[in-house]
Amino acid sequence: MKALSEVNIKSLYSAHCANMETYIMFRIAQRVVELTPSLTAKSRAPIKMSIGAPTVAPPELLIERFTEYLKEPGIHSYSVPEGEKYFRDAVAERMKTRFGVTVDPKNEVCSLLGSKEGLAHLFHGIITPQSGPFDKEIILTPDPGYASYVDAIKVCGGLSYPTPLTRDNHYMPDFSKIMKELTNQGYNPNHVKALIINYPSNPIGAMAPFSYFKDVVAFAKEHNILLISDIAYADLQFSGEEPPHSILEVPGAKEIAIEFHSLSKPYAITGWRIGFAVGNAAAVDILNKVKSTVDSGLFKAMQKAAAFALTSPVCDQFIKDTVKIYEANQARMLRGFQSLGWPAEALQAPRATFYLWLPIPPRYSSCVKFADELLETSGIVTVPGTAFGKTGEGYVRLSLVNPVAELDAVIERMQADGFTYH
Ligand SMILES: Cc1ncc(COP(=O)(O)O)c(C=O)c1O
Repeated sequence: MKALSEVNIKSLYSAHCANMETYIMFRIAQRVVELTPSLTAKSRAPIKMSIGAPTVAPPELLIERFTEYLKEPGIHSYSVPEGEKYFRDAVAERMKTRFGVTVDPKNEVCSLLGSKEGLAHLFHGIITPQSGPFDKEIILTPDPGYASYVDAIKVCGGLSYPTPLTRDNHYMPDFSKIMKELTNQGYNPNHVKALIINYPSNPIGAMAPFSYFKDVVAFAKEHNILLISDIAYADLQFSGEEPPHSILEVPGAKEIAIEFHSLSKPYAITGWRIGFAVGNAAAVDILNKVKSTVDSGLFKAMQKAAAFALTSPVCDQFIKDTVKIYEANQARMLRGFQSLGWPAEALQAPRATFYLWLPIPPRYSSCVKFADELLETSGIVTVPGTAFGKTGEGYVRLSLVNPVAELDAVIERMQADGFTYH
């Protein structure tokens, strides 16, 4: 018998995972760990502007409640994959009060270990794996878009087809055009199983008007494909902006749409891993079935705390207060980049999320080069735009969640180290 060490370890990979890399954010984190001693030695200890994780403490009352729930009888045993009734009821209440949308907590709501997990498991439930590139089932994905979509689809043996978000199309792809383009390239339009939209968007921070949501619903119905809306940043809109919409506000959307919500960013609890999906009962059922075989639901104390957060005015106020911080951080950094020579018209000021989509100085041939140099010289950690898709070339993403002293240090270091625009 061969020893394990003699086995060609590569043959262990499934065909779909063969060229898979560790998720970009963890790769960046690893690199930062490696560089920390040398950067610290030259007074450039890393300032992490890379990950989309709030650094403020979660609402105090939420932590208090969570701690109390830990003592309840039966709270430490298994939950159910779809989530406890009290959690699903709170989700239904939130959907009603925040979006005016009615969802049935019995079969149109599902708890998630974060929306990242939910999206990946939905892909598993809807994609039949194929090997040939032109045989693969297709999901249309935003480009630039949340980096997990592409690899999560790949793991399932599917193909993600990029739908470019550009200044020219105001960050709203025309899906009819995309279908034609895809057909011209030899793909079978009947293989398109789903499309993903994400507004407010990561990494650009773009929003879309309700009229666009209506158009996308009509398109998905016409082509009989599942519409997946990811609204992880739905509550992080800046002052004076109309609150972002749920796709389920579009009449009849529930016939073809499922929407993913996250508690991670609004309540500053990215490590808890909690979110939910709402919408089309068949899609929710697929998700529940897949999840029932791979996880056994969320910790009940966390579901209780989340149910509290979703319906608590104190937690709503917490969101409003933190969004004000993000808005002020954005204004501060825009001023900072202008002082480094970035032209005002090149700087976009998203009206939602906590991201800044920064154009790289023209002398750099790629965003990876700029991000690498910024990290290695100044200890400033950003994400190169191409991590979010091909259309992201020419940009880096900064997450504006850091304390003010760190934000100021970014600009000071860039000035001192020669990272001006021209
Ligand atoms: C657009 C988008 N969707 C989903 C997620 C996943 O969030 P979580 O799994 O924490 O709910 C993120 C996280 O960065 C995101 O940016």
